[in-house]
Amino acid sequence: MEIKRIGVLTSGGDAPGMNTAIRAIVRSANYYGIEVYGINDGYLGLIKEDFIKFNRKDVSDISSRGGTILGSARFVEFKEESVRLQAVEILKKHKIDALICIGGDGTYMGAYKLSLLGIPCIGVPGTIDNDIVSTEYTIGFDTTLNTIVEAVDKLRDTTCSHHRCSVVEVMGRYNPDLAIRAGIACGAEEVITCKEDYSDEKIINVAHEAKKAGKRNCIIIVCEHTIDVNHIEKVLNDDGTYETRATVLGHIQRGGIPSAFDRILAARLGDYAVRLLKEGKTGVCVGVKGETLTHMDIDEANKLPKKKPVELIEQFKHLI
Ligand code: F6P
Repeated sequence: MEIKRIGVLTSGGDAPGMNTAIRAIVRSANYYGIEVYGINDGYLGLIKEDFIKFNRKDVSDISSRGGTILGSARFVEFKEESVRLQAVEILKKHKIDALICIGGDGTYMGAYKLSLLGIPCIGVPGTIDNDIVSTEYTIGFDTTLNTIVEAVDKLRDTTCSHHRCSVVEVMGRYNPDLAIRAGIACGAEEVITCKEDYSDEKIINVAHEAKKAGKRNCIIIVCEHTIDVNHIEKVLNDDGTYETRATVLGHIQRGGIPSAFDRILAARLGDYAVRLLKEGKTGVCVGVKGETLTHMDIDEANKLPKKKPVELIEQFKHLI
């Protein structure tokens, strides 16, 4: 089937660099003579028929903007077959032949299920969490990592002045990649990546060791959904080795100007997604391995074993 008109949407948590991907998709598609409709607010906007025609000028000057100009939503109803069938009818009505869906694994699942209903779909990895196994990097991860590093560096300044300990919670959903890489980049005294490896005794020991080594301060980075940072703050204040403050970085981590790395990644993946659609691919997701662009069936990608970034930190333990 010749693809004449495609839709693009961003779904799930927004990520810096999504706009660059949208720009690349529009410009690449237009280059190949394909029309593009932006779909506002992810799969929710698809059901609401909230579309906007994009020409190359409409996506000028968006690469440097964080967030997504299309808006995003977590639309759990899209898990229902009846809702997806409705989406198929809407796409047919608007003569939209195919979709490019930018987001994380939930977005991929929506794209995969739509592809099974006959709509060619490609998934582009856009999430700060870097938890998509079929790509080495997701769009937004690098920018967020830099945001965290900047924030922890600032915390280091004040904890150092006050001889304190900072316990910092970072995002990542269930993937500790952000926490681990931020820990390495900031020289954190400890990174907590899972509940199982944590104990109050262990964390007190980290503080004691830091004190013994003559450190003025101590930084502990905690991956969200593991241990409550306020609990760790209390444990360390009760111990008294360092006066301790907990900080949850929160949604600050999702905003901001995308890094050059994320922009280049987004531009390459967006263009690649268009080219794959032109070649007749469907139900696949794009990614990178080193400098190479890759693609894989979404179904197959979902079965890959989870990443094990924890191994990375072992290589740096002796530098703490
Ligand atoms: O998936 C991106 C992410 O920011 C995760 O790191 C975090 O767990 C989650 O989204 C937060 O979701 P929400 O913005 O819906 O609170």
